[in-house]
Amino acid sequence: MKKRYSGKWIGFLERYRLGVYLGKIAQVSDKNLDVVLSFINRQVEKLGTVLPLDRKSFFKYFPPDRTFIVLGKTGIESLFVMSRGRGKGLATLRTRIYAQDEEALEEAFQYIKKAALTMEAMYIRTAVFSYAEECSWLPKLGFEKAAVIPEIACLQGNLYDLIYYYYDLKNEYSFRVEREYVDEELYKTIEVEKKRDAKIVVRGLRLGDLDELEWALNHINVFATLGSGFYEGLVWWDRDRIVKMVFEGRLYPLVAQDASNGRIVGMASLEPLARRSIGDVLSNAYSLAIFVAAEYQGMGVGSKLMKELLLLAKRLHARMLTLEVFENNFPAIKLYEKYGFVTAGRLPIWIQKGYVWSLKMYKRLYSI
Ligand SMILES: CC(C)(COP(=O)(O)OP(=O)(O)OC[C@H]1O[C@@H](n2cnc3c(N)ncnc32)[C@H](O)[C@@H]1OP(=O)(O)O)[C@@H](O)C(=O)NCCC(=O)NCCS
Repeated sequence: MKKRYSGKWIGFLERYRLGVYLGKIAQVSDKNLDVVLSFINRQVEKLGTVLPLDRKSFFKYFPPDRTFIVLGKTGIESLFVMSRGRGKGLATLRTRIYAQDEEALEEAFQYIKKAALTMEAMYIRTAVFSYAEECSWLPKLGFEKAAVIPEIACLQGNLYDLIYYYYDLKNEYSFRVEREYVDEELYKTIEVEKKRDAKIVVRGLRLGDLDELEWALNHINVFATLGSGFYEGLVWWDRDRIVKMVFEGRLYPLVAQDASNGRIVGMASLEPLARRSIGDVLSNAYSLAIFVAAEYQGMGVGSKLMKELLLLAKRLHARMLTLEVFENNFPAIKLYEKYGFVTAGRLPIWIQKGYVWSLKMYKRLYSI
């Protein structure tokens, strides 16, 4: 007898503790956080960590305003976090879903889809490690595999892939959701005079360099190719954030300096993909970013930065580098290919001269 009712009772008690009596979807609050933690910590490896989350670290992964739980008879059945893409990625909704089973995943997805179709998102994007069950469940919901970065994650001595998926929403609208950006030449590149007499040296970023880099970033030939910039003057440097990231070992920036006039003319950086300094499956994976001031492009500055960045990567004990690049940014793709990056797949979409997809690229720093 006791056994027959126990599931029901646990479910009732858990719902009572969650403080939710109506509806199936709820936000995470101080009141239900312990139950939420126990749900997520049962499957914590799906987050890319082998160590449990506590009250503080939970919110690093799951900001409270964008995280939701779906409740069933036995308590929490799924948890998901959503974010609207930033900059040119605004037309995509990004999400991560953690579900107890396939059915729970499907239910969580209905809520995500509802939000996406309300925000006029054209795609939903997510990423899953190949050891997680979700990678066999997502295709059944209609997700397409977009890119696979092979063997980027290390879990207890074994290597696993990181798989990117997308879901196309465009046909689910009763109106045409694409805007007419194509004819407007939003990001038309302009002619600039090249500084051909430059003598370039590469070194680490110093605080005094940030003004010059902001100037270089806000040139149309530069921001046109980056994920953030829409408009001249709108590519901001959050200086405090950059300084904080460097101090915390979350950003390794190198700059190129023109020795003939002292100007800072380019920057390249590595950013750890790991979210935690211990126990993270992406502990030796970094994402790469690079740009060169318009007057100095096409003269070997990018190559110099790239060579030094690869040296820095080795000193960081890195095993894998990744990046994302607009698929029409031929100079950058050629530079990456020249230094051994290969394409992992194609991801939707960015607002740039209409809509452009991006390539995921990676470079292994070890031989198999
Ligand atoms: C992409 C970028 C960093 C390259 O730096 P750069 O200093 O111009 O590149 P380099 O002069 O060192 O050239 C390196 C390689 O890139 C390729 N490349 C550079 N300019 C190119 C161009 N206009 N067309 C085609 N390929 C080009 C070439 O393969 C070249 O090697 P090669 O000369 O041996 O053929 C630079 O053009 C830039 O800052 N662009 C704007 C910002 C950006 O797009 N960043 C990448 C975002 S993902």
